[in-house]
Amino acid sequence: RKWNGPVTEVYSPILVQTNEGPKRKLIGTYPIGTEKEANEALEAALAAYDNGRGEWPTMSVSNRIECLERFVYKMGEQRDTVIKLIMWEIGKSYADSVKEFDRTVEYINNTIDALKDLDRESSRFSIEEGVIAQIRRSPLGVVLCMGPFNYPLNETFTTLIPAIIMGNTLLFKPPKHGTLVHYPLLKAFQESFPKGVVNTVYGRGADVTPGLMKSGKINVLAFIGSSKVANDLKKNHPKLNRLRAILSLDAKNASIITKNADLSLAVNESILGSLSYNGQRCTAIKILFVHKSIVDAFIAKLNETIAGLKYGLPWEKGVMLTPVAEPGKPAYLTECINDAIANGAQVMNENGGTVAESFVYPAVVYPVNNKMKLYREEQFGPIIPIVPFESLDEPINYLIESPHGQQVSVFTTDPGETAHLIDPLVNLVSRVNINSQCQRGPDVFPFTGRKDSAEGTLSVVDALRSFSIRSLVASKM
Ligand code: G3H
Repeated sequence: RKWNGPVTEVYSPILVQTNEGPKRKLIGTYPIGTEKEANEALEAALAAYDNGRGEWPTMSVSNRIECLERFVYKMGEQRDTVIKLIMWEIGKSYADSVKEFDRTVEYINNTIDALKDLDRESSRFSIEEGVIAQIRRSPLGVVLCMGPFNYPLNETFTTLIPAIIMGNTLLFKPPKHGTLVHYPLLKAFQESFPKGVVNTVYGRGADVTPGLMKSGKINVLAFIGSSKVANDLKKNHPKLNRLRAILSLDAKNASIITKNADLSLAVNESILGSLSYNGQRCTAIKILFVHKSIVDAFIAKLNETIAGLKYGLPWEKGVMLTPVAEPGKPAYLTECINDAIANGAQVMNENGGTVAESFVYPAVVYPVNNKMKLYREEQFGPIIPIVPFESLDEPINYLIESPHGQQVSVFTTDPGETAHLIDPLVNLVSRVNINSQCQRGPDVFPFTGRKDSAEGTLSVVDALRSFSIRSLVASKM
């Protein structure tokens, strides 16, 4: 795609051979947006909303649904192109790229069904002491929507779609890695919704977002990414009481593998939880607490299974490990491993942590303790830190002290142990997985977190509620 003016070049994590050796492939460009252009986008969104009087916020739910159905049809026409872009731009395997696209379409279809139910609820009248009351779901205004690089389509759309369909107008800033993925869909947005409903903002977040937030005209911040960036964005808003924040932020999900765990199951699920998409999932398992009595057997089985995993380019058959998306990530992961070694841990598997171009071979690091980066930092990459424990109070205390509270996994075959753990855990995190990895899906499930991990709740129905207000028309008889 050609742009006038200065552009940012997008390089794939996939390297190609050149005369000067292997290099990241240039796969496209996007404009370096300016503050002025961001303000023009804001003006367009404000004009389309028109203080709630615009065509879109006053449109009937059934007509809005027709627009979304038109969009999802057009989106389907772009399936192959978008899947190819996900593979090239962020290095996700073909199977996971297909899954990301298809689950997003399913999410939109589920949203349409849920909205019809919500609309039925809204059009219900209740009569109380001479008053007829109609409860409605009304939009909130202008939404600034920013998604992450790791699920550029799915995660972004789980805020963007409910925000649109509830009658809000939008500023959409695509992620730094994962902008090209959206190109085939931007035209579909323009063709499916009235002018000004979806407005794309390009450029470095630090250049274009402060002005938008300082304007005080953003009513909802829908952001998926780091809590640091979320706090910076919020700080710029002059009236925080007028800003609704729907945030999905940092997470350091733990897995507790007790002495009663089914070892094979725990190993297989730990691999899925820690290494799917190279651990670049907010929901990934990022630290494992393994009971001392089984830790040697667990690590041996884990290493054996990792040795059988296939790594390669995203489109290669059966591949699980692919190039990591962010250029600085291999160096950061190496730094985490070196820090753990300096504090007494070892890399337990052959080739663990080896970097080759943009590939990072998974590393099993043991024994991890509270002096290490890997104990508290969200590595967001293929490292499996293992902490040995004796008493179940140890992992519980870790979760109590952690600033995060998204999910936890527990592996045990003892129902008494499960019963003992569920209540304390569910009061510390927002999802407890028994004998399975941490994950967001299916997307109809509530998705949130405690402490610094989230604000507001996503899912299908929760998201429709998050991007609207329950209002009332009360008529006296
Ligand atoms: O990065 C967060 C994604 O929403 C993860 O989704 O756990 O279903 O793969 P998932």
